[in-house]
Amino acid sequence: MKKFAVFASGNGSNFEAIVTRLKEENWDASVSLLVCDKPQAKVIERAETFHIPSFAFEPKSYENKAAFERAIIEQLRLHDVELIVLAGYMRLIGDTLLQAYGGKIINIHPSLLPAFPGIDAVGQAYRAGVKVAGITVHYVDEGMDTGPIIAQKAIEIDEHDTLETIEQRIHKLEHKWYPIVIKQLLGLNNRGEKA
Ligand code: GRF
Repeated sequence: MKKFAVFASGNGSNFEAIVTRLKEENWDASVSLLVCDKPQAKVIERAETFHIPSFAFEPKSYENKAAFERAIIEQLRLHDVELIVLAGYMRLIGDTLLQAYGGKIINIHPSLLPAFPGIDAVGQAYRAGVKVAGITVHYVDEGMDTGPIIAQKAIEIDEHDTLETIEQRIHKLEHKWYPIVIKQLLGLNNRGEKA
């Protein structure tokens, strides 16, 4: 059984979409840990509902990023994690984690990278007046939303779209496609079994 961790900082709708799909399809895999840098975040409640252990920490209570990343690594090893899935984790991954899990960390970003990296990507795209928007799943490197692209999905924006409708459509796309990409990366077939 493949084990992976999800890192999130906020709402956790992607976290929930991933876990729900995994359960519905009975994947030969499990989310063995949620890592969260905001102990009050909604995603922690979601993890509790699914009985998924979480490691919630206050970055401020550590000396520096290397120190809290060492604490994260300890947890990841305890839980036998072989893939790290960032889903709204609002922090750059540092050298310590990259050295330990390089090439095994993926992220989802709500734009067609390399356009609109960083925060408020949907707002950036909306204000730029793009006619095509979308999502990107990519490997994580030391940059902000850089790293090799694994998959992208696009939607067309029409004149009736508002920032809100685009945000909703982007979220829907993420919830559909992130689980599919994760399943492939874990080497599972369409039904979620070992391929
Ligand atoms: C998503 O839009 C994701 O692309 C971005 O952060 C957002 C997280 O949303 N990296 P949620 O917490 O999963 O609802």
